[in-house]
Amino acid sequence: MSVDADDPIVRKVYEIYGQVVETRKPVRNPDEMVRILRDEYRLIVDKRLVSLVLAAFMAGRPVLFEGPPGTGKTEIGEAILTLWAGKTAFVLPCSENYDEYRVIGDFHPLMAMKYGFNEESYIPRPLLAAIILDAGVLVDEIRRSSEEFQNMLLDIIDKRRIIVPELRKVFRARGPGFQVIFTSNPEDIGQGELSDAFLRRVVRIRFDYPPPEREAEIVRIRLDSRAKLPDELLRSMIAVVNELRKRASYKPGPADTVTWARVAARLAELRGSDTVDVRDVIEAATVTLYKRVEEEEVVDEVLREVFGV
Ligand SMILES: Nc1ncnc2c1ncn2[C@@H]1O[C@H](COP(=O)(O)OP(=O)(O)O)[C@@H](O)[C@H]1O
Ligand SMILES: [Mg+2]
Repeated sequence: MSVDADDPIVRKVYEIYGQVVETRKPVRNPDEMVRILRDEYRLIVDKRLVSLVLAAFMAGRPVLFEGPPGTGKTEIGEAILTLWAGKTAFVLPCSENYDEYRVIGDFHPLMAMKYGFNEESYIPRPLLAAIILDAGVLVDEIRRSSEEFQNMLLDIIDKRRIIVPELRKVFRARGPGFQVIFTSNPEDIGQGELSDAFLRRVVRIRFDYPPPEREAEIVRIRLDSRAKLPDELLRSMIAVVNELRKRASYKPGPADTVTWARVAARLAELRGSDTVDVRDVIEAATVTLYKRVEEEEVVDEVLREVFGV
């Protein structure tokens, strides 16, 4: 049996999640989306990527963002889903013991004892909430979940419905807002491979470290500082992180470059200066780029090569 709007679970979802899901006008135009991502979310995303995601959604396919850490997969995915649906997206951070009870729903043990296993004692979770509210879902770090969990998700996405056998109910997607983006980092060793069955059903978009000009743009839009960061200094910082991506085992992503620049800018402010200088940058590097004791040396080496100090 399919459910309607006055179903007790639907009402419960609106009660619980209605407060955290903000509504806005859905965006379906790539140019407009690129602009809003930049102006409202301070995310630099190119039109090609946005167009590919929108095309996948229109073709009824979930999307997989695959690439190294700190390249914006999670934030960009969440923002695009939110704009597409016109509702705040749900984020499911995966781990091995993630299962359907945590994402679809389960019974409150005490309530179930009192009222039985029915709507009264059922607690809807984010995936069920998303399908009912017609919102998007970001499934973060999908490789950390079990294959069984992945298959369950794909089945729901394909059929756009969730069956809760205990309640003898089927919840169907109510509009086009319910879309899914997965993120994954293929270089993260110790994480599972994605099955062929999984890859067959998703549209895979590769994320990479951005070219230097784009990374500079990302740092600028995220800097948030009164102290000015001279262009040349920023170019050198980006040269450093690119070199570390080749030579170090901890590879700094744009997220690390942003943190580095922000700390350097704060140091300048604390000095009472309105301009970041090379000392601030080096000082900030020792707390933002030194990630492992055994790699401090390679960081120093690259800093010396680039800044000559
Ligand atoms: N294209 C981008 N535009 C704006 N900020 C970015 C971008 N790419 C990376 N960042 C930086 O990285 C952070 C987001 O990284 P995140 O989404 O967690 O990456 P991932 O999920 O790929 O590890 C942002 O807060 C920002 O500092
Ligand atoms: Mg992430």
